[in-house]
Amino acid sequence: MSIAFSLHLLAALIWVGGMFFAYVALRPVAAQQLEPPVRLKLWQGVFNVFFKWVWLIVFMLPVSGYWMIFLEHQGMANVGSSVHLMQLIGWLMIGIFIFLYFSPYQALKKNLTNELIPAAANNLNRIRQLIAANLSLGIIIVLIASTSRY
Ligand code: HEM
Repeated sequence: MSIAFSLHLLAALIWVGGMFFAYVALRPVAAQQLEPPVRLKLWQGVFNVFFKWVWLIVFMLPVSGYWMIFLEHQGMANVGSSVHLMQLIGWLMIGIFIFLYFSPYQALKKNLTNELIPAAANNLNRIRQLIAANLSLGIIIVLIASTSRY
């Protein structure tokens, strides 16, 4: 249980913390200091590294979550509504990430390879909106999960 819980928390921390850093710290500074072609390539490089970790995380979160539910709590019937809600929002976040990865992120890479800067900028904007959605959902989960204990 403690291993599953530690892996679960670590995965949530890296995912939500990574999105927070990208959105709140890196995005405004990159937009202020870098011209679009350089900025778009920076983001492609950053996503290339971060998304590898996110793939590991979107595997680890449900595995560790269901491990706790079925081995510690002996099934879905014995967990509180906050865990049901976490599961629902968690799958929504995972779905958003998979869509983001296979749709606007692949288009961003293709458009950058072909030097289609305005099209790539549109893709980045779409990715930004989807990351904003996932960051908000991630913060909501952490608030629900932590406050439901009291
Ligand atoms: C995808 C399906 C998910 C399942 C099945 C799941 C399941 C669980 C379970 C069973 C617990 C332990 C609850 C307890 O015994 O107190 C837990 C805790 C937690 N989960 Fe998830 N989870 C999922 C997704 C997520 C996601 C996406 C995040 C955040 C991005 C997250 C963040 C947390 C946090 C912060 C805790 C600790 C809460 C506490 O200390 O009470 N979970 N989760």
